[in-house]
Amino acid sequence: MFLQRRMAEPYKIKSVELINVLNEQEREAALIEGGYNTFLIRSDQVYIDLLTDSGTSAMSDLQWAALQRGDEAYAGSKSWYRLEHAVQEIYGYRHVIPTHQGRGAENLLSQLKIHPGDYVPGNMYFTTTRAHQELNGGTFVDIIIDEAHDPQAELPFKGNVDLVKLENLIQKVGADKIPYVSVAVTVNLAGGQPVSMQNLRDVYALCQKHSIPVMFDATRCVENAYFIKEREVGYERVPVKDILKEMMSYSDGCTMSGKKDCLVNIGGFLAMNDDDLYTRARELVVLYEGMPSYGGMAGRDMEAMAQGIYEAVDDLYIAHRINQVRYLGDQLINAGVPVVRPIGGHAVFLEARAFLPHLDQEQFPAQALAAALYLDSGVRSMERGIVSSGRNKVTGENNHPKLELVRLTIPRRVYTDNHMDVVADSVISLYEKRDKISGLEMVYEPPTLRFFNARFEPLAANGRLIQD
Ligand code: F0G
Repeated sequence: MFLQRRMAEPYKIKSVELINVLNEQEREAALIEGGYNTFLIRSDQVYIDLLTDSGTSAMSDLQWAALQRGDEAYAGSKSWYRLEHAVQEIYGYRHVIPTHQGRGAENLLSQLKIHPGDYVPGNMYFTTTRAHQELNGGTFVDIIIDEAHDPQAELPFKGNVDLVKLENLIQKVGADKIPYVSVAVTVNLAGGQPVSMQNLRDVYALCQKHSIPVMFDATRCVENAYFIKEREVGYERVPVKDILKEMMSYSDGCTMSGKKDCLVNIGGFLAMNDDDLYTRARELVVLYEGMPSYGGMAGRDMEAMAQGIYEAVDDLYIAHRINQVRYLGDQLINAGVPVVRPIGGHAVFLEARAFLPHLDQEQFPAQALAAALYLDSGVRSMERGIVSSGRNKVTGENNHPKLELVRLTIPRRVYTDNHMDVVADSVISLYEKRDKISGLEMVYEPPTLRFFNARFEPLAANGRLIQD
């Protein structure tokens, strides 16, 4: 019988960070103290932290060594030239503007390109990206394929742009009202779903026909490249590095949160091929981030990011990364736990409404499930549902998003597959007693971005989140 060989983490551990493991009583106290909101729990009260994959990567020995090379010169730092070169070589863009993180790049791009009354099409929104577009008078238009909004639709490239939706928008508002098309590779809020090479090629061709630039949100672009290798005919034997280069060639520039696929704790960039846009970005970056030769980063951070850019496109690294996320997801699928399908690149998303069908969306099922998971095992996750969506600005009613999710986001190179087993055991045991999980009431609601600071209490008469 052919036995598929198992794959271990393609790294070994040189330095460890000790974890504080609380008992159940201590976890319950921490949860009450934090108002049943995982954002309000201290990290030393968390056993396995799956709040985000952003800035939570473990750096390699070579990255730590690179910190020592950091050139902290205010202007013309050697470290900057190394970072610029890494982006040019691996991503293929001509010009690079460093920023402190992804949203810094989004701010510059939105200010430089968007005018009031413009429309910015994108394959599903991301919070900060859309906020910057709106701040500059733009209107976000969702052009992702319909299936992306269906958590059970099994498609290899569920992040794809619907070309008909894009074409219709161009016909309706005119190309001159579209400063650029924003394409995220992969799509975070759809479940970390990738975009196919063919779709990227087609979007670029359509946009070129109408002289509309294409700007990628490249935050998790290496993960997208791996999915192309795995799923798209003709790419099985192509190195991820080459796939990435081809992907990026179907765009005119990108914003990047280095905190994800550049394997660093802080940093980002805006890249582009257009000389005029570059000149204007060099002027604007000074106002918000700093000189164009550091853009909000220390020289040592730029060194770590340059090194991370090369490490991230290693085939073995990225294969393990994606497969570790899937390893967790598959355990949940096999146990019948409702999750967003297929498993995406950076996270497993629990479908809270199917998990807790006895709760109304106004009883915050995803928030309750995230709190219950912490109570059960000290695993921290993130609500991505009705709490995160906020209220309608006009009516004041809660928005009711179709997707009511709990995100189990896997940091890069931080946890072993054993940690994934612990998470799976906890989720599965909660699923077995799902009818014992109570809904929540929001007892404090901040006016903006409420999910960060909102406080909750269980609705159950005895005040307990999980009934005995
Ligand atoms: N674009 C995407 C798709 C993101 O996921 C993020 C951040 C950003 C842009 C902004 O980058 O944080 O460096 O300013 N996502 C984090 C998350 C916060 O947890 O998903 P940033």
